[in-house]
Amino acid sequence: MSSPVPAAVASASALSARGLRYQVTGRSILDDLDLEVPPGTSVAITGPSGCGKSSLLNCLAGITLPAAGTITVAGHDITTASPSRRAALRLAHIGMVYQFGELIPELTALENVALPGLMSPARPHEVYVRAEELLGELGLAGLRTSPTATLSGGERQRLAVARALIGSPDVVLADEPTGALDGKATQAVAELLFALPAQRRCALVVVTHAPAVAERGDTVLILADGKLESVR
Ligand SMILES: Nc1ncnc2c1ncn2[C@@H]1O[C@H](COP(=O)(O)OP(=O)(O)O)[C@@H](O)[C@H]1O
Ligand SMILES: [Mg+2]
Repeated sequence: MSSPVPAAVASASALSARGLRYQVTGRSILDDLDLEVPPGTSVAITGPSGCGKSSLLNCLAGITLPAAGTITVAGHDITTASPSRRAALRLAHIGMVYQFGELIPELTALENVALPGLMSPARPHEVYVRAEELLGELGLAGLRTSPTATLSGGERQRLAVARALIGSPDVVLADEPTGALDGKATQAVAELLFALPAQRRCALVVVTHAPAVAERGDTVLILADGKLESVR
């Protein structure tokens, strides 16, 4: 059983990365990279394919360990935590959205949204109540019992956002969340995502190739030569 997650130390940032270094097959992908995302703010990250955006998000989520550097999420250092504690911290503090939704096709919309909560210490009944609330808040109540396989790409991504919110995360990380959508669905999903920091006080990091999505970020950064540089 994983140990309980202790209280966070005080931190102005919901998400903080200092001095990150990470290599893939001898090539430096992250090179002394820093990032600070205060609660209630958003960052958009762009950069050419293969520059390391997904690698960076995987480090920020505690899925991949950087070779050096420190990452804190809601004040918790995830770089020195054991794998089981990283998983517990991820469940408690981080929501993830991927390019293709990564929903489970055999489950209904409601079950997909509830699923991460059912892996947390929360009571299942409360998780399902919260999942119902989220579907309502995100305008997805009509999809409640829909088999996931019948949904459009835009509906799937909206559900993926709802699922990311089931644990009331301090940090939401999205990797090309509109990469598989047409223009109209792209705008709807981008609007939903970039409204989250103001609505829920979370920090939001969105990796995207789409200029119309990136420009919604409070800060727009480009990943180049292993570092984040300001675009605006
Ligand atoms: N598991 C892996 N094994 C080998 N190379 C990898 C692996 N994951 C990523 N890479 C390489 O690391 C680099 C960065 O990948 P990635 O972070 O996915 O970039 P991006 O998301 O910006 O397209 C690429 O050159 C990619 O081919
Ligand atoms: Mg990628």
